[in-house]
Amino acid sequence: MKAYLFLYIILKDIRLSESSEIVHKFIETSWITKKDFNFTLKTTFQNSICCNVYLHDTSPEIYYLFKKFVDYYPYEYSLNVNTYDCSAYFLLGSTEKEIYNDLKKIPTFKSNTEILVVLNNNLEINSNILNVTIYGNANANVVCKSGIWSLSENYLFPRIFQNVDKYEKLKQNDGKVNFHGRQLRIATLYRPPVSYLNRTSIKIIDDVEEEIFDADDDLERDGIEVKLFLLMAEKLNFTWIIRKSKYRYGKKYNETVWKDGLIEPMYKNKVDMAFGGIWLNLDHYSFVNLTEPWYQLFIHFLVPRPQPTTSFWALTRPFSLTIWILLVLSILLQSICMFIRARFNPQFPERFRHFLLTLIELTGRLLGSWAPKNMVNVKLQLYLWQMLGLILVTAYCSSLAAKLTNSEYEKRIDTIQQFLEANLKWGRRPPTPPFKEFFDLDDPDASQLPSRYKVVETSKEIHENIIKGNYAILGNFVGSVFFPEDEVANEDLKNYRVMKEMVGKFYATFAVQPWLLSPINRIMLRLKESGIATFHLQDVVRRRASFNLREILIEYDGKNGLRVLTLTPLGAGFFLLLLGLSISTLVFYLEIKYANKSKSIRENLRDIDRKRKLYSRSPLVKN
Ligand SMILES: *[C@@H]1O[C@H](CO)[C@@H](O)[C@H](O)[C@H]1NC(C)=O
Ligand SMILES: *[C@@H]1O[C@H](CO)[C@@H](O)[C@H](O)[C@H]1NC(C)=O
Ligand SMILES: *[C@@H]1O[C@H](CO)[C@@H](O)[C@H](O)[C@H]1NC(C)=O
Ligand SMILES: *[C@@H]1O[C@H](CO)[C@@H](O)[C@H](O)[C@H]1NC(C)=O
Ligand SMILES: *[C@@H]1O[C@H](CO)[C@@H](O)[C@H](O)[C@H]1NC(C)=O
Repeated sequence: MKAYLFLYIILKDIRLSESSEIVHKFIETSWITKKDFNFTLKTTFQNSICCNVYLHDTSPEIYYLFKKFVDYYPYEYSLNVNTYDCSAYFLLGSTEKEIYNDLKKIPTFKSNTEILVVLNNNLEINSNILNVTIYGNANANVVCKSGIWSLSENYLFPRIFQNVDKYEKLKQNDGKVNFHGRQLRIATLYRPPVSYLNRTSIKIIDDVEEEIFDADDDLERDGIEVKLFLLMAEKLNFTWIIRKSKYRYGKKYNETVWKDGLIEPMYKNKVDMAFGGIWLNLDHYSFVNLTEPWYQLFIHFLVPRPQPTTSFWALTRPFSLTIWILLVLSILLQSICMFIRARFNPQFPERFRHFLLTLIELTGRLLGSWAPKNMVNVKLQLYLWQMLGLILVTAYCSSLAAKLTNSEYEKRIDTIQQFLEANLKWGRRPPTPPFKEFFDLDDPDASQLPSRYKVVETSKEIHENIIKGNYAILGNFVGSVFFPEDEVANEDLKNYRVMKEMVGKFYATFAVQPWLLSPINRIMLRLKESGIATFHLQDVVRRRASFNLREILIEYDGKNGLRVLTLTPLGAGFFLLLLGLSISTLVFYLEIKYANKSKSIRENLRDIDRKRKLYSRSPLVKN
């Protein structure tokens, strides 16, 4: 606060005495002209639209320079307070120590930081201010009485301060990035379809044994992200060495610790760039810088195909339940109607006065298998009834034939709800996935998916789970083809299809060190806009997706032609036959038994036989 007040007074003084002799004298004797000063400001602060200004000194010359800044700088600025969302820093002072202390306060980790140091003094070449390490990833220019220094691009290594003889030679950002063959350290892993790098050899780098991808043939230098990476290397003119990462994900332990995967070496600055299906999410972003995404991927499950089934009640399938109920009701109604009419109308055939007989006859007529002689008075009614029967029987038979000879299948599993109902489990190699990134945990169904997760350690275990059944495979759609998260043998995919409902989606990006962010982003946008990213995506998928990976998109249920009828679909029919037979046998047995209660069944049968013989011998019958 005190400093502000002080500055304000001094500035007012300067403003008041602007036209005075003294100030004019400064203008003439100042070591930097207004034009050069403005040019320096413009070239240094190319990307920022606000500025943090640090100044402590109170000498008139410093205030004169500050005044020039105030007059020229078109945006807002803050004095001696650090506003972190502003990435431009203007340091003005007379002593190295002062400047050095201010420099230490700047978050130079961010690659978009722009620093201009104006020292109203001379500077030795070995000064602390010209020590590149304190500038981190920032871009910087240093101007003093004894010379002009420009810090080399933050993506070149080692960075150096170049002494330029004219202000015009200060480096300008013209969008051209050339790494001049700098070797970048990359990390990735075998992960179709984004990377097919596989063979490695051990190399010693910085006294540590590292597994490095050979990447020496075109078959391996394949994969969508590898293709994009190679294009970047060519355009930006860098060379590379690619380390193999053991795991893809790694795990976040707490806000400051990330273990394994592609993120840890990035975070610890052991590699400059990492790719291999890295997701654009907050957890990753809080540890490393992520580039523009190149594509959006969709997470799906592979679920077991519906298996053919055969129901015992297949015979009932041609008609829906309502039709069956209506049918039974109409038979009952018709029987009651006939029965009542027969009761009151003496001309009606006598047999209809018995309800059960009526019911049986009407059922028989409906099926077209009943043709008694006596139809007096009820001709029209029974005629219409039999017409209905004909239609019903025809409909039933044709529908039955179509249904029985086509295979029946279990219901498809297409939604998360059906997934849960089918009691499926799913798994993935460790580490346990961060569920909140895969699923929408606010959804009542999707939030149950984590409880269905079980860890699988090896490919063999995945295979065993698949054989055991009730197991879903997690993966994502790249383009139009589904790729499982873990490698699954082609043979095992045979009985799987893709569940229609998507469970999640994500953007795929590259992780880079801050100084790589801007050049890679720029090239990534160009690759996307020009359609090159999409081209490689389709090209790689077309070349590399196996037959079985395409196969899982095809539905097979209900498509394998006619089948031979077996016992089960006709089961209900046979059951009915058996029931009828048993009942009639029972009735027959009871009839014989009660024909003559004093005799046994055997004797009764013998009586019947004897009577029959007598009857047939009788001449009356013969004629
Ligand atoms: C630059 O500064 C770093 C620490 O800030 C120090 O370790 C290093 O020795 C310095 N380099 C020179 C040449 O002074
Ligand atoms: C790439 O860098 C090398 C090494 O500095 C250089 O010889 C070559 O000319 C550069 N290529 C391009 C296209 O700039
Ligand atoms: C990867 O390389 C290993 C040997 O280096 C080989 O056994 C394995 O089959 C390769 N995997 C693929 C998918 O090519
Ligand atoms: C994170 O964990 C590490 C070790 O596991 C510990 O040293 C560190 O203090 C923890 N940080 C926070 C913020 O909890
Ligand atoms: C890079 O990441 C760091 C933290 O990980 C973050 O503070 C910084 O803003 C990021 N840089 C950019 C340009 O996003």
